[in-house]
Amino acid sequence: MNQLIVKDLCKTYIVNKRQNNVLRNINLTVNEGEMVAVMGPSGSGKSTLLYTVSGMDSATAGKVNFFGKEIEALDPEEMSRLRLTEMGFIFQQMYMLKNLTIYDNIILPAYQANAGQKKKNRTQINERAKELMRKLGIMEVAENDITEVSGGQLQRACICRSLINRPKMVFADEPTGALNQQNSKEVMRELNRINGEGTTIMLVTHDSRVAAKSDRVLYLEDGNIKGEMQLGKFENESEIRNRERKLSGWLLEMGW
Ligand SMILES: Nc1ncnc2c1ncn2[C@@H]1O[C@H](COP(=O)(O)OP(=O)(O)OP(=O)(O)O)[C@@H](O)[C@H]1O
Ligand SMILES: [Mg+2]
Repeated sequence: MNQLIVKDLCKTYIVNKRQNNVLRNINLTVNEGEMVAVMGPSGSGKSTLLYTVSGMDSATAGKVNFFGKEIEALDPEEMSRLRLTEMGFIFQQMYMLKNLTIYDNIILPAYQANAGQKKKNRTQINERAKELMRKLGIMEVAENDITEVSGGQLQRACICRSLINRPKMVFADEPTGALNQQNSKEVMRELNRINGEGTTIMLVTHDSRVAAKSDRVLYLEDGNIKGEMQLGKFENESEIRNRERKLSGWLLEMGW
C-alpha cells in the first residue's frame, strides 16, 4: 500500500522579492513499512521536502496524500491533529522544552493527543513511555533536565517522543547529524528496529552509512529527484559493507 503519494510538488520561497524555486515538481511515493533516505547537496531542498510532505509547511503547488488523506484539504486543526497522532518527527534542533524533564518531554504529545480523557489513559501513557525509554536505554535519565543528558541520550529521547503516539510514519531530518559514530549507530539500530515493527520512515541524511541502512535512497538536486537506488531491507550487519559499496558507487554517479 502507498502510504505517502506526492504529486507535482513545488515550493517557492520569496526572499527580498526574489523567487527561489526550491522544490520543482517532485513526484514520489513511499510504501507502507518502507524506510526511505533522502540525500543530496546542501541547499538542494531536502529539509524543505520533509517539511512540506509532512504538512509542517505548505506547498506552493501540488498534492500530498498521506494514508488516503489529501493534506492540503485539511484545515489547520485537522492537520495538527494528524501530525500529532499519525506522524512522528525527529529533527536536529529538537524543540524539547527546557523546563521539563526528559520523561515529561516524552509524554507531552500523548497528553496533548488525549486531552480531557480519563485516568486509565494516563496509566497507559506512562507505561508506553517507560517501555520506550527502556528499549532505548535512557531510563536512568528519565528525571534529568534536558540540559543534563548527552547528545545521544537526547536524540534517543527525541525518538521516544516521536513514537509515543504510535505514528504510522516518522519523518527525521538528519537524526544522526550531531552524533558521534557510536551514538549514530545506536540511533540507526533503533530506527531500523521500529521500521521492522512496521513504522514507515522517511529520513534526510548526509551520511552514506546511515542511508545504506534504508530500503531506498533518493538523490535530490536543485529541487528535483535526480535518481533513486533500491537497496532492499537491511537485515543484518554482515551486509553493510556491500550496501555501502553499492551506494557509494551510485552516489559518485549522481555527482555527490
Ligand atoms: N524558510 C525559508 N525561507 C526562505 N528560504 C528558505 C527557507 N528555508 C529554506 N530556504 C532555502 O531553500 C533552499 C533549500 O533549503 P533546505 O533547507 O531545504 O536545504 P537542504 O537540502 O536541507 O540543505 P542542508 O543539507 O544544508 O540541510 C535553500 O536555498 C534555502 O536557503
Ligand atoms: Mg536540511
